[in-house]
Amino acid sequence: MHRDYYSAIEWEKIIAFSRTRETPFLIVLLDMIQHKFQQFRTGFPDAKIYYAVKANPGIEVLALLRDLGSYFDIASIYELDKVLGLGVSPDHVSFGNTIKKARHIGEAYDKGVRLFASDCEADIRNLAREAPGSRVFFRILMDAVTSDSDWPLSRKFGCQPRMLTDLALLAADLGLDPYGVSFHVGSQQREIPAWDAAIAQARSLFERLDREQIRFKAMNMGGGFPADYLVKTNPLAVYAEEINRYLGLHFGDAIPELYLEPGRGLVGEAGILVSEVVSVAKKSKTDLKRWVYTDVGIFNGLMETLGESIKYPVYTEKTGPTGDVILAGPTCDSLDIMYEHFKYQLPLSLESGDQIYWLSAGAYTASYSAIEFNGFPPLKTYYL
Ligand SMILES: Cc1ncc(COP(=O)(O)O)c(C=O)c1O
Repeated sequence: MHRDYYSAIEWEKIIAFSRTRETPFLIVLLDMIQHKFQQFRTGFPDAKIYYAVKANPGIEVLALLRDLGSYFDIASIYELDKVLGLGVSPDHVSFGNTIKKARHIGEAYDKGVRLFASDCEADIRNLAREAPGSRVFFRILMDAVTSDSDWPLSRKFGCQPRMLTDLALLAADLGLDPYGVSFHVGSQQREIPAWDAAIAQARSLFERLDREQIRFKAMNMGGGFPADYLVKTNPLAVYAEEINRYLGLHFGDAIPELYLEPGRGLVGEAGILVSEVVSVAKKSKTDLKRWVYTDVGIFNGLMETLGESIKYPVYTEKTGPTGDVILAGPTCDSLDIMYEHFKYQLPLSLESGDQIYWLSAGAYTASYSAIEFNGFPPLKTYYL
């Protein structure tokens, strides 16, 4: 099954590298990220691509994307320092988090950032004071649309159209540049029509603001592009074709400047998390269930298995008849169970010391890893 995700050459490299190293660790295949970036470029030739740093903030990933001419979407001044430290120009950076302290806005502004996203009055007033004249994206609340996705970003972000209109007017009054709307259809969004609904909403906001004499110039379509996990998705080219069709449908020949902020879709498939079976256990002699405890869990890389939301393809070199397992992590916390309701099938011969490979684990793994929970160190990353 690994061959459904990686070429023979890639897989040989992964196995050879993994045999001699203490697990757990993440391997990132930089060539795959480069290839995906080109696919985004080809699929969306007119869009500016702002890599969502939070998905995998590894220096090697950021440096590669910098060299490929990527822009960067940051969530905090700490991510900002990381990208600026690599020589990225601040005009290649968007501060896309709607939740930020006033003094962090000021710090980003002092360092040259002039593009922000916002969704509430308090933030707009802070932006006007700390980042005068900056361009602002107003984020649309996407509650209904994001609930379809595997990792929704609903409720917490964005605001309703009426409030968005008022905020844009306030921003203009306060000397900011109301630049456009932004949305995020939910992370790991496999339903392509989600973009149709979002673009339609964005379009109606352009019209609404136009009536108020505010001319939005741009639309930021966020992230949401899926990675191939246990359930495969359509290729990126299919997403691009459909989304470009929606753009034509809703905007005709007046398509605004386009921004994209892919995270998972750009780096997800390029990562392989290598772990080891600590033990295989049953709770009684007659128990039909096997608990497989691995040295990686919710707290050191597999956070997105919470609620069994993201289902990684799991591979072992062991072969033979298989049976149901419950997969759990190494810590003394009963929350540290990755999959219990969804039954993964692993070989009955699986035992302590066997390696387990979690495929398509390049996004939201290393960056989610705790620094010391139960004494376990943060997840290491190697770049091949
Ligand atoms: C503002 C913003 N942009 C982009 C992303 C990246 O989303 P994804 O990883 O689904 O592509 C996120 C994810 O949280 C986000 O909050």
